[in-house]
Amino acid sequence: MILPDFVRRDVALDHLNTFALSARANWFVDVTKSAQLVALTRTPDWRKLRRFVLGGGSNLLLTGDFDGLVLHVCISGRDLIAEEADAWIVRAGAGENWYEFVRWTLDQGWLGLENLSLIPGTVGAAPIQNISAYGLEIAERFQHLEALDLATAEMVIFDRAACQFGYRDSVFKRAAAGRYLISAVTFRLPKRWQPITRYADVTRELEALGITHPTATDVSDAVIAIRRRKLPDPARIGNAGSFFKNPVVDAEGFGRFIARYPDAPYYPQPDGTIKLAAGWLIERCGWKGQDLGPAGVYEQQALVLVNRGGARGDDVLRLAQTIQDSVQTMFAVALEPEPVVL
Ligand code: EPU
Repeated sequence: MILPDFVRRDVALDHLNTFALSARANWFVDVTKSAQLVALTRTPDWRKLRRFVLGGGSNLLLTGDFDGLVLHVCISGRDLIAEEADAWIVRAGAGENWYEFVRWTLDQGWLGLENLSLIPGTVGAAPIQNISAYGLEIAERFQHLEALDLATAEMVIFDRAACQFGYRDSVFKRAAAGRYLISAVTFRLPKRWQPITRYADVTRELEALGITHPTATDVSDAVIAIRRRKLPDPARIGNAGSFFKNPVVDAEGFGRFIARYPDAPYYPQPDGTIKLAAGWLIERCGWKGQDLGPAGVYEQQALVLVNRGGARGDDVLRLAQTIQDSVQTMFAVALEPEPVVL
């Protein structure tokens, strides 16, 4: 395989995934400019090469070495590109750290991303799974993104409709999976800002602090406090956040479920379906705080699987499968894993 000089051989991925799983990539490149990619797509073996686009590695489960090329997105930059009557239009390179970007927007007085404070990962990965937390999803602040089509080497713009956002979902997890490298994302931040405090944990946190008219910084601080209490810091315990999506059931299935478990939390959706809390289901199966080999279920939030030290991707998958079986047997509900498995 002949590849340009800037491509490295045999690179460890251990520090590039928040689960802290051990794996190596056959070829690896830190992509800092779109132009590098164009050079890569012109190499003769490009079409034969297995490729994987890596951001912050915070939604990734590595099950072994990767026999292909890892494109590690390191494209930086953040700018106000326009001011409109009712919004600030802000663009960031895909490799920017998500939370540093959120903090920077707040510092500039461009509000609206505060509910998504402290989410690990990069700006470029945020639209892929439509990151959402504490009453806000990125789709609500999204304007468009720029991506390189890895098959044709053409730059493509995706507006909100083209991204087909859903709950923890977008076209980049389905029809377009693996085809594009997102290079920059542009956000539309409203000038007429309103705090989003309807999420029960946020309401409680602000009440406890005696805050009745929260600023964006207050909301950000509340979200950070909740996250620090409930979610493990990947710098200390390997994890990829929520390991499962919250399952969505139809009205009939929900009727049967709630008749048996009237105390279960649930969230009716605009389309008539009902979202259940996977963390609650897993806890009820007795898994919270439990381990299976070196993989475990976090003590404060059963939706998060953790690497207790030295786990392999397969250990985590075995635990995930066992939990899925328990939840299926007890509740007749299927859990879908959230991270990308490589
Ligand atoms: N619950 C339990 N036991 C648990 C965990 C949760 O009973 O171990 C119950 C809670 O008491 C609550 C309900 O389940 O009634 C929901 O819990 P929580 O508010 O913690 O949120 P979640 O639905 O478990 C989702 C996201 C999180 C996000 C929070 C806040 C998914 C898959 N996860 O979790 O996202 O931070 O809402 O918006 O939708 C992530 O993506 O990594 C992540 C942490």
